[in-house]
This record gives sequence, C-alpha cells and structure tokens, in this order.
Amino acid sequence: MLNQEVYDKVAARFEAEFGAKPEAVAYAPGRIEVLGNHTDYNEGYVFSAAIDKGTFFAASPADDDKVTLVALDIGENGEKFECTLGTVAPVKQGATWANYPVGTFNWLFDGAPSKAGRGFKAVFGGNIPLGAGLSSSAALEMATALALAKIYGIEKDKTSLAKIGQKAEHTFAGCPCGLLDQASSLFGKEGALVKSDFRTCQFENVDLGPSVAFMMVKSNARHALADGAYATRRQACEDAARHFAGVLRKKVTHLRDVTMAEWVLYRGGLSETAARRAVHPIGEDERVLQGAELLEKGDLKGFGALMFDSHESSRYWFENSCEELDAIVDAAKAIPEVYGARLSGGGFGGSCCLLVDPSAADSIAAAITKEYKAKFGDEPACSLVKPSDGAHLV
Ligand code: GLA
Repeated sequence: MLNQEVYDKVAARFEAEFGAKPEAVAYAPGRIEVLGNHTDYNEGYVFSAAIDKGTFFAASPADDDKVTLVALDIGENGEKFECTLGTVAPVKQGATWANYPVGTFNWLFDGAPSKAGRGFKAVFGGNIPLGAGLSSSAALEMATALALAKIYGIEKDKTSLAKIGQKAEHTFAGCPCGLLDQASSLFGKEGALVKSDFRTCQFENVDLGPSVAFMMVKSNARHALADGAYATRRQACEDAARHFAGVLRKKVTHLRDVTMAEWVLYRGGLSETAARRAVHPIGEDERVLQGAELLEKGDLKGFGALMFDSHESSRYWFENSCEELDAIVDAAKAIPEVYGARLSGGGFGGSCCLLVDPSAADSIAAAITKEYKAKFGDEPACSLVKPSDGAHLV
C-alpha cells in the first residue's frame, strides 16, 4: 500500500472512531541497516537509511484520563487497547503491540504518565512488512513520540525522542536494543545514508547518488529479538569490554574503545564465545570508517565488498545469521550487478540488504528467488528500497 493510502486509511478510521479529525498526525519510516552490525550498543558506528515505508500515528488529547489506541493492521478490522493514566504498564499478554506506543507515552513523561494531565486517543497503521527486520516497532515509537509531543506541547530534540523509544523497548517490550532503529527513522534523508556515531550521538547524512539502490530480500526465517539471542549477544559484548578494560592500559568502557590489533593480542582470558562475539562489532566499526572513505571516493564496489565481509563476520564470529540469510548472500555474490549484501539488523532471520545496480533489479530478484526456492521450497520477497526522509509531522 502506498503511503498516501495508509494516511487516508488512518485518518478515515480516526474520524469514524472518534467523530472528529485528529489534532496531530505523524509519520515515521522503517530503516535498513547497511553497514555496522551490533555496533550501536557498543557505542560504535553504523551506516543505515530510512526507507520509503512507514507508520502513521493520528492522535488527539482525551477529555478525561483515558488512553485509547486502535491498531489498524491487527486482525480483520483492527484491534483496540485501553488503559488510564493510572494504569499505564507493560502489557505481558494479548495486545503486546500496545507496549510500543504506551511505553513511548510513558517515557515522554519521564515515567510519570499522570503528569500528562489527560489521556489521548489514537489510531495508527503502516506498510512496513512485520518481522522483516525493517524496524516497524521503532517506526511506531517515533510516530507516536512526534504526534504526542505535538498534542501535549512537549519540545524535545530528535536524539531525546530516539532515547524515549529505546526506553520503551527496554522496559515495555523487553528488547535491550541500541539506538540505531529510532535514530535512523528520525535522521533519514532522501537519497542519502545516515552515518551514526553512537558515542557522540552525531548523525550525518551521506549522499549516495543515483547509480545505486538497495534491494531488500526478506527470508521466511522468523525474526524476533525479544526472545533472548539478541540479549545474550549484547551481554557477551559487555563482558568482553570489561575484560579489555582490565588488560589494556587505556580507558575502555565499550568495545568501541578496542582495536582489532588489541583483540588479537589480548583476547586470551576471554572465553572462546566471548572472544568470537567481541571481534564482530570491533571489525564492523573499522569497516564503517573504511566504508565512509570509499563512499567519499565514489567507490561503490569497494563499499559493497565491505558489506560482504560484514556478513561473513556475522555468519562466522557473531553467529547471528541463519541458513536462509546465508543462502541469499551466497546467491547475491554470484551476480555481477550486486555490489554487496549482508544481513540487516539484529539477525537470526529477517532480511538481507543488497547494494545493487537498479537497472538490473528484475534479473537480480529472479536469480535470487530461483536459488532460494531450490533450497527452501518457498520464495523470498524482493523489493527495491529508496533511502527516504526521516520522521515528521504530516
Ligand atoms: C536491532 C536493534 C538495533 C541494533 C541492530 C543490530 O535492529 O534494535 O539497536 O542493535 O539490531 O545492529
């Protein structure tokens, strides 16, 4: 569905449900992760982009303390969730989707939602495929944050809004994510990548030029980060950072502070697993910095080669890939018009991100689909993705 159609649907349902037009509507896009995997919570670097699909969130203040949310895309005719300012809490069963908007609302008021004074009513819907690793949840958080900030008259900069969404993930949805998804949704720019530094929280746009595009290939492997594997990876990185802090004669708070040479020399004392996990974000940081130099020179093939290296590192060291994603990257490697390919986001399923020559999109999609089908029997979904503008009020 086109963004305009989604907007129309959300606005119409709001009026039907609440008998008036919404006071604010915000749009926030999903994201692709292009280079730099599991580096965000290690205070490292990432190249990502906001995509041309997203979530619309339409809201008005309530006259009382009631919070009413309608999720258009759930079930046949949408699903409703209600609470009051006094009962805002994580939803453990049933409408767990409400954790994203309700958690965002909670942290917009610093964890004291009664400060809002009155509740709100909202309808939201979008066109980001769910479970594809395109951060539909971060898009929902950022659309919620922008629309609610508007109706409650709250002024916050983009980085603060991103952190509010991240807190909702940690405390309501139960996913200990970094800041990448929310930041990408906010700082995206048409035709450009977002280069993020998660130590300084500096977000910069890097133009890509018209000769390349991204193709997302969605495997049919399940992708869920809240069920433990993401958290154990993060834990291993933090344990490894503590080890390096003890053995290196310099300040180390995160793996961002450790170089590849130091990993080689000082990995002894780490468990085999912790050492394998640690080298992934360390290598990814180096690849992002190298990638930035290559992009500046217009060397897209060189940049693409780093994407392939990134996937190898996921597959071998971090073990956050899976058979399906590996098959997509292997198939992509054999196609000359694909410059690079890697898994995108948390891993363990979801999608691969390919840097491609857009004029060959059809033949690339056909070749990958053929290989994938021969191995797994079903077809992956291939679609060209345009780097797009970040979240905004409509
Ligand atoms: C998920 C998380 C992000 C980031 C990526 C991996 O998308 O939500 O914070 O850690 O995985 O780079």
